[in-house]
Amino acid sequence: MKNITLTLTFVLLAFIGQAQELFEVNLKKKGPEIQPEMFGVFFEDINFGADGGLYAELIKNRSFEFHHPFVGWTPFGDVTVSEENPCFERNPHYVRLKEKGSRRGAGLENEGFRRMGFRKNSGYNFSFYARTPEAGEMKFRIELVGSDEEIIGRGEILVNGPDWKKYSVSLKAEETDAKGKLRLILESPGVADLDHISMFPSETWKNRANGLRKDLVEALYELNPGVFRFPGGCIIEGNTLESRYQWKHSVGPVENRPLNENRWNYTFKHRFFPDYYQTYGLGFYEYFLLSEDLGAEPLPVINCGLACQYESTECVAVDDLGPYIQDAVDLIEFANGSVISTWGKVRADMGHPEPFNLKMIGIGNEQWGPQYPERLKKFMEVLREKHPEIKIVGSSGPTPDGERFDYLWQQMKELKVDLVDEHYYRSPEWFLENADRYDDYDRKGPKVFAGEFAAHHASRDNNVRSAIAEAAFMTGLERNADVVELATYAPLFAHMDAWQWKPDMIWFDNLSVVRTPNYYVQQMVGQNTGTHVLDIQQNGSSIVGQDSLYASAVLNETSSAVIVKAVNASSEIKEITVSLKGLKGSIQNARVEITELHSNDPEAVNSLDNPNLVVPVFSFVQTDENSFTINARGNSFYVCKLKIN
Ligand code: AHR
Repeated sequence: MKNITLTLTFVLLAFIGQAQELFEVNLKKKGPEIQPEMFGVFFEDINFGADGGLYAELIKNRSFEFHHPFVGWTPFGDVTVSEENPCFERNPHYVRLKEKGSRRGAGLENEGFRRMGFRKNSGYNFSFYARTPEAGEMKFRIELVGSDEEIIGRGEILVNGPDWKKYSVSLKAEETDAKGKLRLILESPGVADLDHISMFPSETWKNRANGLRKDLVEALYELNPGVFRFPGGCIIEGNTLESRYQWKHSVGPVENRPLNENRWNYTFKHRFFPDYYQTYGLGFYEYFLLSEDLGAEPLPVINCGLACQYESTECVAVDDLGPYIQDAVDLIEFANGSVISTWGKVRADMGHPEPFNLKMIGIGNEQWGPQYPERLKKFMEVLREKHPEIKIVGSSGPTPDGERFDYLWQQMKELKVDLVDEHYYRSPEWFLENADRYDDYDRKGPKVFAGEFAAHHASRDNNVRSAIAEAAFMTGLERNADVVELATYAPLFAHMDAWQWKPDMIWFDNLSVVRTPNYYVQQMVGQNTGTHVLDIQQNGSSIVGQDSLYASAVLNETSSAVIVKAVNASSEIKEITVSLKGLKGSIQNARVEITELHSNDPEAVNSLDNPNLVVPVFSFVQTDENSFTINARGNSFYVCKLKIN
């Protein structure tokens, strides 16, 4: 963020004659409590978000388990695929290289995920499992290759012995290249078998092995998320039940986590990705650990016995749901169980004996029709009995209104779920019009989880117009924090060269990250949460679009601050005076910190070439007798923070 200090005086002078508005914040009475975890993130492996994205592995198809085992690889010389006496039972394929002493050698190149990003002077940890069935020492040359075919990093591995063993070498890149690849060559004559060929940057988030991309986790960290929902989304449903996300496949030694196809591989015919698979290298253990690192409450979602209803009619008979329900029970044990419980031990063996303190679980994603509550009921009977402490999140389907939505909400009330997950992918206009959506919601039933939302502009760009509309809508979420307990934008990540769906909050390529205006809205909200809602009104009414203005106010008891969020969705500048009623004593000349997200151009987007076109800008104003004034420019979102005693 740019940190520019300015008094807004110059703005004041420049716009004499503009519309004047008075917002009144009532400090006499604290409103409802706000859940500390209210604003968070939702992660799904879509748009190469996990493999090729957050998960820092650089090699695609490292275990040769894709349906066509050489996808991602270019073999040369005598290279074949085998599964006889494999190294890993659940990923049995490996490659056999035979070399007769030719000048070329036998080997393979890997293209990575739309190539590989190398940074000058950075280290790369290369490893594979190998054996030499005919014994004898054999030499492999490993090369980092730049986009111009120049070799920009090199290493050597000597392999010896008929038993599978892990070998590794560290390489250093001599150049920066966003489109590199890896080459390995068997130089000695003879036969060698290789499996699980892997390479990670030596610098990962917290420098963990099997780690995550540091720059991408940093972007998440800066959002200050309160909740972390994972791993989907539709990914938990699968196009078929067989390809649903099974969390048990995603834990334990990484080499033996069985590959799954990614359901976003051919969901959209115009965005066809036959090379999109899930290695589960980023699995449930890593998701829980990441939640912990981010200080966010983990919210795993699991399959309810229905495959994606858009793609399939496959469902598990209600009486056969036992294994699915057991998966939910075991997941709670994996997260919270003692180290001597079956699944708690798996967690402990992976390196985390302390529990992850799981408090919520989602059952099903975007389901609809009677099939869903029938199945959810079965899960609830068991979970309520065995784990009454765990909150259950049910679904209201893929749309925020209509017959299916009304039906499911009624069902969720009858089943007494704790939270209902609502999804809205709608136009920016819808978001503006729905800033008051929750003002009249039923306060007695389940709470709301705004689990997936994004304003879809006609261009589907992450532009300022969509970000401002989301900010306006979020003032409505915050104002209604007594009924809306959680909110997460969706989707989170997209690879510039491999996306299926947009808009998305964070874009990246193999070396860089682009934070969108939508990201900055989430960040401004996430970094400025409150403990209690405060009443904020204009002319005795909530501010929900009158004169294109939207606002919410909170008290943060921990930091003794009043925080006002205001959106000007018009293209005109508006002078807004915020008056604080009910303060004990006067606050003359106190400093109000202002964060502004603005662009004159509502279509403006951040890009790889111009990642900082739209970023929050800091400034401050001073109070004048318990009030302060901002000049809210058109297409803007403001967060105003004032410390009080
Ligand atoms: O966020 C992308 C997809 O949108 C999610 O997987 C799904 O839940 C919704 O349809």
